[in-house]
Amino acid sequence: MFLVTGATGGIGRRVVRLLRQQGKSVRAFVRLTSRYSELEHRGADIFIGDLLREKDIDKATQGVEYIISAHGSGSDVLSLDYRANIELIDQAKAKGAQHFVFISVLGADRGYEDAAVFQAKRAVEKYLINSGLNYTILRPAGLASNLLPLAEQFRETGLYLLVGDSKNRSSIVSTDDLAKIVVDAVTLTGARNQIFSVGGPEILQREDIPHIFGRIFNKEPIVINPPILLIDGLRTAIGLFNPQTQQALGTYRTLLANEFFCTKEEIANLEKTFNFQLETLESFLRRYLAV
Ligand SMILES: NC(=O)c1ccc[n+]([C@@H]2O[C@H](COP(=O)([O-])OP(=O)(O)OC[C@H]3O[C@@H](n4cnc5c(N)ncnc54)[C@H](OP(=O)(O)O)[C@@H]3O)[C@@H](O)[C@H]2O)c1
Repeated sequence: MFLVTGATGGIGRRVVRLLRQQGKSVRAFVRLTSRYSELEHRGADIFIGDLLREKDIDKATQGVEYIISAHGSGSDVLSLDYRANIELIDQAKAKGAQHFVFISVLGADRGYEDAAVFQAKRAVEKYLINSGLNYTILRPAGLASNLLPLAEQFRETGLYLLVGDSKNRSSIVSTDDLAKIVVDAVTLTGARNQIFSVGGPEILQREDIPHIFGRIFNKEPIVINPPILLIDGLRTAIGLFNPQTQQALGTYRTLLANEFFCTKEEIANLEKTFNFQLETLESFLRRYLAV
């Protein structure tokens, strides 16, 4: 039995689909308010709970062999990115689980002090490595599925908002490829007790994205490119009355101000270990946008 947290999220939903296509038993950890009917139709066992509650984590991990931690945190980084994962690891150990897959983030080891999510991910990575469990840690760059709503907006307006340095590089990964890597990680011996940087096959500059949209929709992009100072101003103003949002903007700023790409060697290693060719961003978008 697999337990998937964040089962209704961009990654988790695809992981559950793949596991069910392979006929595997899956317990999908969802909230009462989550949109989980698709997962139920696919035959996943629906566990309704909240990762903020240790009791729910205890119940959800009963009888589980593989745990895939793919939940996000909104703005409650300490409780969800950190504590819920520590509890999942403790319970996995207590219940003799065979393998734990943790979705971290590219750059988790760079010590970004202004980005609470990155700090939490690194702390969980270390805890998992020292837990004695079999593990695979995946550090994805940006997900291609995050760009689908922006592509739909672009289709309507031709506009693309690009905050900060347009030359910064990234390796956007097909969310379907990432899901395949997650699922295969529990069986491939080459993935056991390893950390992988996970990106797409090409290194893109951020300014390439509106051009890809332009090619797909046959439309000249209109790029609006405010400086990153805009986020700094917003953070200072919001911080006066909402510290949690200010913290979330710290992570957002870190994502905008830095480069998140995988080296050619990292991509070659990924393709070799998981034995398939990664999809480009354009190919992913064309499949989903039906163009
Ligand atoms: N998105 C990216 O570009 C990116 C890049 C690198 C790494 N990552 C990491 O990958 C992981 C998954 O990201 P994603 O974009 O697929 O996530 P997502 O689409 O934002 O989904 C988040 C998931 O977490 C669930 N969740 C949130 N709070 C919960 C709670 N208290 N109890 C139970 N479930 C809860 C949500 O459930 P509901 O449906 O109920 O809201 C949802 O299923 C995250 O750890 C993220 O840090 C993401």
